[in-house]
Amino acid sequence: MPVVSIQKLRKSYFISDKGIPILSDINLEVNSSEIVSVEGASGVGKSTLLNIIGAMDDFDSGKVDVCGVDLANISSIDKEKFRAQKISLIFQHHLLLPDFSALENVMIPLLISGMNPNKAKKEAATMLSMVGLGERLESFPSQLSGGESARVGVARALVSRKQLILADEPTGNLDRENSRNLMALIMDLQKEFKFSMILVTHDMELASFANRRNRILSGELQPILT
Ligand SMILES: Nc1ncnc2c1ncn2[C@@H]1O[C@H](COP(=O)(O)OP(=O)(O)OP(=O)(O)O)[C@@H](O)[C@H]1O
Ligand SMILES: [Mg+2]
Repeated sequence: MPVVSIQKLRKSYFISDKGIPILSDINLEVNSSEIVSVEGASGVGKSTLLNIIGAMDDFDSGKVDVCGVDLANISSIDKEKFRAQKISLIFQHHLLLPDFSALENVMIPLLISGMNPNKAKKEAATMLSMVGLGERLESFPSQLSGGESARVGVARALVSRKQLILADEPTGNLDRENSRNLMALIMDLQKEFKFSMILVTHDMELASFANRRNRILSGELQPILT
């Protein structure tokens, strides 16, 4: 069964009572362990699509099935549960909590999921070592470089071993070299953890890491033949 299955998804935003269609007919399947890109110009609805898949935004019509959950008919309590159990997010602005160390930032999702603090600490430290920050566990976000903060963000997203990772311009803040390194790191971790990932990006070089590429154009998702 695919991890993500979307058929005829439609989404409009209402601006002063006028519905403006953003996504008009989106169809997408993402299989287990697959990395799929979503590309397209600014404002075409890439983040909107990712937010819908992450149950962070609602939609007008269509079928959206993510990790076996039908998102059309889901209560807000089940939405919370879905987000906590099934998906992780990697953003351009890593949104690390400034008053917490790298280790604590990575522990937080584990603590929220109910893991005991000693085990969470161990797992978070192991994950930070895997992203090359084993020596920086006690550093605060303000003491880390952009590239290092991005790696903490990746560690935080991957530590809870979710089935699906939603990445919105994960390297958007970084220079070319750091951006390449971060993407190579994500790909190495993908080989180990076998998660599926939807990778939203403007960056062709980044998108070329995907197994399958797509773009949004006029509200529809089109395959990019490579
Ligand atoms: N909450 C909202 N209310 C009204 N319009 C919105 C809202 N959120 C997004 N939009 C509009 O929907 C469109 C798609 O936005 P979205 O953020 O998905 O674009 P994007 O493809 O991610 O762009 P970018 O590459 O710049 O991040 C834009 O025209 C945006 O202005
Ligand atoms: Mg966006």
